[in-house]
Amino acid sequence: MTTTAIRRTPQPPARRRPFKHHRAPLVEVLERYQAAGTVPFSCPGHKLGHGADPALVGLLGPELFAADVWLGTATHDRTLRDAEALAADAWGADRCLFLGNGSSSGNHAFLLATLEPGDEVVVARDLHKSLLAALILTGARPVYVAPRLHPELGVGVGVHPDDVAAALQAHPPARLVALTSPSYFGVATDLEAVTRVAHARRVAVYVDQAWGPHFGFHPQLPPSAMAAGADGATTSTHKMLSSLSQSSILNLRGGRVAADRVAAAVKLTQTTSPLLPLLASIDACRRQLVLDGEALLGRAVELAAGARSRLGMLPGLQVLDAGRLGLGPRQLDPTKLVVDVAGLGLTGLAAERVLRQRLAVAPEGSDLSSVILAVTIGDTVASVEQLVGGFTALCAQRVPAAAPRPLPRSWGAVLAPGGQAMTPREAYFAAARAVPLAEAAGQVAAELVTPYPPGMPVLAPGEVIASDKLAYLAEGRAHGMYVRGPADPSLATLRVVAGDRSEAP
Ligand SMILES: Cc1ncc(COP(=O)(O)O)c(C=O)c1O
Repeated sequence: MTTTAIRRTPQPPARRRPFKHHRAPLVEVLERYQAAGTVPFSCPGHKLGHGADPALVGLLGPELFAADVWLGTATHDRTLRDAEALAADAWGADRCLFLGNGSSSGNHAFLLATLEPGDEVVVARDLHKSLLAALILTGARPVYVAPRLHPELGVGVGVHPDDVAAALQAHPPARLVALTSPSYFGVATDLEAVTRVAHARRVAVYVDQAWGPHFGFHPQLPPSAMAAGADGATTSTHKMLSSLSQSSILNLRGGRVAADRVAAAVKLTQTTSPLLPLLASIDACRRQLVLDGEALLGRAVELAAGARSRLGMLPGLQVLDAGRLGLGPRQLDPTKLVVDVAGLGLTGLAAERVLRQRLAVAPEGSDLSSVILAVTIGDTVASVEQLVGGFTALCAQRVPAAAPRPLPRSWGAVLAPGGQAMTPREAYFAAARAVPLAEAAGQVAAELVTPYPPGMPVLAPGEVIASDKLAYLAEGRAHGMYVRGPADPSLATLRVVAGDRSEAP
């Protein structure tokens, strides 16, 4: 065979991505560190696991400890920048910043870099508590917009661009629009439309896309925030992809926000002792996503579709889908399953307890009306079988309720913005007093009250407390809802701003 003949043999299909994406700089630097037999005289003090509790090493594996090393500042920063550049390319961003404290820290850093005390910011009221914490940190003044609600199901179906336009019209000095999309329940706001509205007024758009790191990597998933034109977005690679818990990224695009200022805010707010395996896991996750993501996500979408239709056939269950919610194509994450259990005469909270404690199924979360499940690239036919089997057993133990009582949803009316008496920061630092829950209506909240999950504050500092929110919290507590934020987690009392009752509506 001649050389020419060899050259003419069929070539493998062209790589969909440039070869650079086969690299994972943070994984490789770790491999080199270990190959060199390096002996650390730096923290962490467990020294490659030799000093760690043997039972813990047995549980977690010696490899984790051997990978928990410090590279030195210069090597660390250089390698991190290389890995971040590859991730920026993957997500279609100009700049990507790796986060070791979740999308929570992305929310803190982005707002600290883009807002000043007193600045107005248009914020969707279904915000995560970390975005609210960012409002407290910055002292910004939120102009809340509510997600629209499905008229019968009472669930949030995204923030409408017209509502953003109206908020910007009413508040011309607003510096930023900040939205959560998708919601915890997988509903994606039309980010392209919102971005058009905001950019027409020269206002930047920031998206908390914590639940959508996989968006844009499969044709059946909604677009990523970057593809939709957002200026900044944080996304938790640990939530719906394969990196380790706490890992996340912050993406930036275009010239409306000062990338260096955001990068400085990230450095300011992150730990100075990052866990290298955690950062390397983002790098490896990005490589996996770029090289095999579409196929892996295709399988997850297919598994979720199978689970959705089988669960929907069980007596007493209803699985929310785009059709029932009146959503268009690519407006609902098909890998998130929201299973209504009211037809079983159970709250979602009770159903989750049974699934976890007796049926070896661990849902993502639950609220009064539903159980929420995430199907990801880590699922298999066997794991989905266990899920359907668990629900089948749950349904078999119950007589379906003839006329289920509709219960309020954690992503519905309970997130309506209340009257704003002061900024979250002013209320957080104001003199406060504890009052019995029943007496808190009409007072100004001094603390966050956040049912978990989904982590969206029902009460936000600075808001006038509405009685229907108190009723929701009381009912939730009676059914075992877990609440974070208040000084008194039993909710017997609430902290309100000391002084007269608010005059705000
Ligand atoms: C909408 C939203 N944003 C941010 C976060 C925080 O993400 P992380 O856990 O990565 O800090 C969450 C967590 O559940 C969330 O639901």
